[in-house]
Amino acid sequence: MNILIKDILTLLPKSELSDDPEVKSCSVYIKDGIIESTTTEPEGFKADKTISGGGKLLMPGLINAHTHTSMSLLRNCADDLLFNEWLFGKIIPLEDKLTGKDCYWGALLAIMEMIKTGTTSFIDMYYFLDDITSAVDESGIRAVLSRGLIGNADDPSLGESRLREAFEALDKWKNHDRISFMLAPHAPYTCDEGFQRVVAGEAKRLGLRINTHISESLTEVENIKNTYGCSPVEILDKTGLLTDKTVGAHCVHISDNDIEILADRGVCVVTNPVSNLKLANGIAPIPKLLKAGVKVALGTDGASSNNTLNMFRELSILALIHKGAGHDPLAVTACEGVSIATKGGAAAMGRSDLGVIKPGNVADLVILNLDTPNMQPCNNLVSALAYSTNGSEVETVMVGGRVIMENREFLTIDSERVYHEVSMICERIGTR
Ligand code: NI
Repeated sequence: MNILIKDILTLLPKSELSDDPEVKSCSVYIKDGIIESTTTEPEGFKADKTISGGGKLLMPGLINAHTHTSMSLLRNCADDLLFNEWLFGKIIPLEDKLTGKDCYWGALLAIMEMIKTGTTSFIDMYYFLDDITSAVDESGIRAVLSRGLIGNADDPSLGESRLREAFEALDKWKNHDRISFMLAPHAPYTCDEGFQRVVAGEAKRLGLRINTHISESLTEVENIKNTYGCSPVEILDKTGLLTDKTVGAHCVHISDNDIEILADRGVCVVTNPVSNLKLANGIAPIPKLLKAGVKVALGTDGASSNNTLNMFRELSILALIHKGAGHDPLAVTACEGVSIATKGGAAAMGRSDLGVIKPGNVADLVILNLDTPNMQPCNNLVSALAYSTNGSEVETVMVGGRVIMENREFLTIDSERVYHEVSMICERIGTR
């Protein structure tokens, strides 16, 4: 199928040498899900669908590089609590009541929110992997999924059974054009040294990427220090889990030595500023990580600690918080923020063909309506994306050249059914 998006303000790379974003007017030609040209009409191109670009902005879809989709079921039911009280006192007991079907509906609710606010890809870690994969498959969004793994030497069967679940989904859904998988040792405080080595070995054997949480809270850093005499980054490095295929969420409390290790191993750090603020865990040293050459992506974390999956809000907080914390207006610029939320996420997924609008890349695209008061006047649209958007400007969303939301209407999801099912689940598990 050929799509022409005609005469539209577009977030393009500045030049062939720089993927830094700037906004220019152009027409975008898409053939079978791939961007063919952003300049001249390809020879013999005949559009099956034409989208007129007047009063609109085209940008690469946002990439939510760290979330737990089905936790949307637990939104606004465990707030204003200390991290350990939140996780062990509220969230885990509620999660124990969830079934695979519940997680399917929870994932669909999360996917609806992400599509509606301009996200076209996400990286997920949760359980009931097969049910979540079904939701992604049906919705048309793109995802890298993982089964959260916990394990320890005292009970090897626990880790083994979860690894088996991960392998089963991997086998069942292999060669899917929008879905791939990672291995996800949950965190150094839920996977002991021996189990970390097992997962590192399996990832290496299968060539899989790793998805994990690192140094999210001070308590974690203290506990790891007491157990291993080193930092969470150091123990993960020692067991072989830190490579250029590793995505580490949070990295809030890290030392200069940790930063050196992350840079040297080529780890991609996913920052989740809103979740870190809400759970009072602190502020990750993103300007320092960027300066050290560490790859950085952006994520919302789950809706139970955010409490939205709106990447525009996340982008805004990312670009603002480091200015205030470091008394430096250049700490994370609008341009850097937009790049982190798009191209940075693509790197976290291990994809060089996403996150930037250029020929040869996959057409994961979002169209924003600029005829809204908060987007006018259109003085600097890169700044507008970082500081003025709220997500409601997103009008049309396309993944791999397939339109999945048009004029804010979902084309793949029955939203009324999702709201109904989610409401029934919440009544059953007692979240209200
Ligand atoms: Ni998380």
